[in-house]
Amino acid sequence: MLAIEQNLAIANDRQFYPQIVEKKKARISVCGLGYVGIVTTGCLSDLGHEVIGVDTDPRKLKMVSTGESPISEPGLTRLLATGVKKEKVTVSGSLMRAIWDTDVTFVSVGTPTAEGGGCDMSAVISVSRQMGMALQAKKDFHVIVMRCSVPPGTTLGLMRTILETESGKTMGVDFGLSFNPEFLREGTAIEDFHTPPKTVIGVSDERTGDILSEIYYPVDSKPIITSIPNAEMVKYIDNVWHATKVTFANEVGRLCKPLDVDSHAVMDIFIQDTKLNLSPYYLKPGFAFGGSCLPKEVRAVEHMARDMGVSCPLIESLTTSNLTQIEHAIDMTLQQAPENVAVLGVAFKPDTDDLRESPILQVMYHLIEQGIMVNAFDECVVTDERLEGQFEYIKHAQPELRGLIDNLDSIMTDDPSSMLEQSDCIIIAQKTPEIIRLMTTIPAGTPVIDLVRLYKETPTDKAYHGIGW
Ligand SMILES: NC(=O)c1ccc[n+]([C@@H]2O[C@H](COP(=O)([O-])OP(=O)(O)OC[C@H]3O[C@@H](n4cnc5c(N)ncnc54)[C@H](O)[C@@H]3O)[C@@H](O)[C@H]2O)c1
Repeated sequence: MLAIEQNLAIANDRQFYPQIVEKKKARISVCGLGYVGIVTTGCLSDLGHEVIGVDTDPRKLKMVSTGESPISEPGLTRLLATGVKKEKVTVSGSLMRAIWDTDVTFVSVGTPTAEGGGCDMSAVISVSRQMGMALQAKKDFHVIVMRCSVPPGTTLGLMRTILETESGKTMGVDFGLSFNPEFLREGTAIEDFHTPPKTVIGVSDERTGDILSEIYYPVDSKPIITSIPNAEMVKYIDNVWHATKVTFANEVGRLCKPLDVDSHAVMDIFIQDTKLNLSPYYLKPGFAFGGSCLPKEVRAVEHMARDMGVSCPLIESLTTSNLTQIEHAIDMTLQQAPENVAVLGVAFKPDTDDLRESPILQVMYHLIEQGIMVNAFDECVVTDERLEGQFEYIKHAQPELRGLIDNLDSIMTDDPSSMLEQSDCIIIAQKTPEIIRLMTTIPAGTPVIDLVRLYKETPTDKAYHGIGW
């Protein structure tokens, strides 16, 4: 039973056994009292934890010790002042002492941009050394929670190595390690802490997950427990996504103004579409976009922007990025040095016979150009007169595909089993029940290039290659 469930059981029992005492809240130290650390300090003390704030800046320590906030954040001074008054908030210049006196340490030192554009890790390295030395002299299990934005791999690589080397102890046994990204917005940080968009806890072990779930329980009873690298990456991807949204909206504004269209009215309509626009749709890594609409409309908007002399680098980069994904699929296939490639799925998506700008056609064309034999199967595509109009469209829009289209009839097969038996490399370009079934019949060890994430869990088979996983 998870500790949190045990607590719930205790809480339920309490009405019958009022003498059961409430479990003691974890004592917490917060290393780095900047924007992230000081909000963590105030909010966790407000949840009833004893919190020791640690920083190298004596000015900050002095301010916090008198209940003053070193940053401007609505409601924070009140929380800190109350915390100091109730003796829930104290400060220390010694990280080692703070570790000995607490159960959990949140690390929120700065990771500014280093020369060359990377992340300056000097503060992380320095505090990791001190924490490792402190752990060496500590008997009890201690949890270290990384909150700094760092490249995936840093917590389990750099930090774990320093902690284990300095302490001589083992992660997951003697101490727990976690990456717990911070999603609070400056200005509404206290409110966001109490109603978080999500709580993500990457952990080294179950015990660490339980301890942190219990700390966050009052504000989020269903935190997302995941691996440490996943949690590290989520933090970066969230911020890149937010930046993408802002940039996209600004490009929409620049496009709308010279057209005398009200960009806010347009986006007010745009955001009402929660099925395709503001939704999980189109947000899973996979193959390039294609079909009769997306590539064409993107080109039209790019063209319109150029005509008006409006610069829209984000929108203008979409076609290039899409081509890069197609080239990546070609490179992955060529790396297998195949002689006979089988393609499963030819239309730009399942349940249609629409071949217009289907990106897999580009892959097939380039493989054939390299002298590789290519055969393909698609449940919905029958190369008869019904597709003639489409063939003309493709030959006109993508003249390089003319030869492929003229020979498509001989390339397509309605006997996928024989095709798979004869091939020495398989490209999966659609996810359908039939393709999932066919893949159970392939000879073991045949290289597979999966462009659509056919399986929820990535197969560990060395012959399997996912395009983005
Ligand atoms: N500011 C945000 O909104 C935000 C949001 C999410 C994540 N982050 C990430 O959290 C981390 C902290 O961000 P911030 O904005 O709070 O930084 P900050 O620069 O405001 O604060 C960092 C604090 O760490 C202290 N410090 C530096 N070295 C130390 C050491 N050796 N021991 C103890 N304290 C030390 C500094 O004196 C400073 O008070 C960064 O990695 C940042 O990318 C920030």
